[in-house]
Amino acid sequence: GNSWKLEDHPKLRKGKIIGLVVLDGWGEADPDKYNCIHVAETPTMDSLKKGAPDRWRLIRAHGTAVGLPTEDDMGNSEVGHNALGAGRIYAQGAKLVDLALASGKIYEGKGFRYIQQCFDKGTLHLIGLLSDGGVHSRLDQLQFLLKGASEHGAKRIRVHILTDGRDVLDGSSVGFVEKLESDLAKLREKGVDAQIASGGGRMYVTMDRYENDWGVVKRGWDAQVLGQAPHKFQNAVEAVKKLREDPNANDQYLPPFVIVDENGNAVGPIVDGDAVVTFNFRADRMVMLAKALENEDFDKFDRVRFPRIHYAGMLQYDGELKLPSHYLVSPPEIERTSGEYLVHNGVRTFACRLIHIFLCSETVKFGHVTFFWNGNRSGYFNSEMEEYVEIPSDVGITFNVQPKMKALEIAEKARDAILSENFHQVRINLPNGDMVGHTGDIEATIEACKAADQAVKIMIDAIEQVGGIYVITADHGNAEDMVKRDKKGQPLFDKNGNIQILTSHTLHPVPIAIGGPGLAEGVNSARICPMVV
Ligand code: 3PG
Ligand code: CO
Repeated sequence: GNSWKLEDHPKLRKGKIIGLVVLDGWGEADPDKYNCIHVAETPTMDSLKKGAPDRWRLIRAHGTAVGLPTEDDMGNSEVGHNALGAGRIYAQGAKLVDLALASGKIYEGKGFRYIQQCFDKGTLHLIGLLSDGGVHSRLDQLQFLLKGASEHGAKRIRVHILTDGRDVLDGSSVGFVEKLESDLAKLREKGVDAQIASGGGRMYVTMDRYENDWGVVKRGWDAQVLGQAPHKFQNAVEAVKKLREDPNANDQYLPPFVIVDENGNAVGPIVDGDAVVTFNFRADRMVMLAKALENEDFDKFDRVRFPRIHYAGMLQYDGELKLPSHYLVSPPEIERTSGEYLVHNGVRTFACRLIHIFLCSETVKFGHVTFFWNGNRSGYFNSEMEEYVEIPSDVGITFNVQPKMKALEIAEKARDAILSENFHQVRINLPNGDMVGHTGDIEATIEACKAADQAVKIMIDAIEQVGGIYVITADHGNAEDMVKRDKKGQPLFDKNGNIQILTSHTLHPVPIAIGGPGLAEGVNSARICPMVV
């Protein structure tokens, strides 16, 4: 039915404060020197694992268990937090786009019709992450879309690429650009004027999130919309190869570039009458660009020129803001999430004793425990019952320089919230294992894991003090394996004999530990969480 009433749990006692920790990028793998969680000093997590075997489990955090298309899909924060927050598995964006492309339904939808209106006179621009990582986007989906759009009337197409190296190996960008170039050449043979128009590394150009640094989006805007960038090339493969020659360069942080013709003019600025599609299915790192492309009144940076375009997202990225208003594929309808249930039951069950939820992370992961947790909805369900606290992340550094990040600050805020006894659920995300893991810096990732473990300890100690319950888990793996391996699990080496660093997430399961004085005898994590590995 539509009731929000929750039945009492037969064993869990009501009214206990729950402290919930999501360790971002914290999986379980065999111990070796590339397992940073194993190498790091992590006494708190170690004791949870050894201490109470019936209260520590491994759960799957990748593939179909979290709504991804195949078992080869590594986990990620969107699907992980969606699943944790909703308590259910939804077919995720990646899968929904696959289905819409395979059936051809994508071309019959309102979103495609809307952009199609520009095909006669305007250019179709496709902006997004160019890799087969499957976290934000996938190359094969872009390839289908290019083919489909041209078959449905697009005569002039410009692709604005963002190189990856974060969900895939660093250096793989060259191969992806080559593949795309060969597809575009085939389209040109068929009479479609199709080219790459601009590019840049995802972490430096366009794909910021949670308004951490608008400068990133501006760099992309300048290249994509205005056709301006510090680097100009006549060919995108050459661009990426040249820019990578800088010894400090990597795919994630390549500087912005535009492709120019023989007269030095940008081949694909976005102008009045054009159509634009952002082809990432994942929301967090497209929301900021979507705002810049869609919102009439926008003051985050000077757009210089605001073209009159028809813009559609691959998906609608924010269900609350209805952003963007046009999209090619309907997002998963993640409804009735745990946060919403708590808010409703606070009013009913406790009458004047409201359930309060307190949650906290730093900017780079803040939306994970709010936006993703709440089913890709920004904002509060009920601001009188929820408090969301964001600690500003350091801006303009890569996190291997600062592996502790804000773990201590997050944990202290959570501790204060728990001890205040004003809240029934205190939820935090600790980004360290993931954000530092993505840099590929093994030493720093070890430090990161240690810091996260210390933060968990602060949280657990506070829960002990107030007689509450803690739940410690993770959204997906990352720091527990920092090397690319062959099928037998042996580390792979590049042609210079160096190990191939794995910057991405993994397919490993993640731990879930429960405990605390508020937990009744006989409650174990197998009962609470049957989805064990
Ligand atoms: C990113 O966006 O940083 C990575 O592609 C995925 O990392 P996340 O899923 O942990 O956010
Ligand atoms: Co990550």
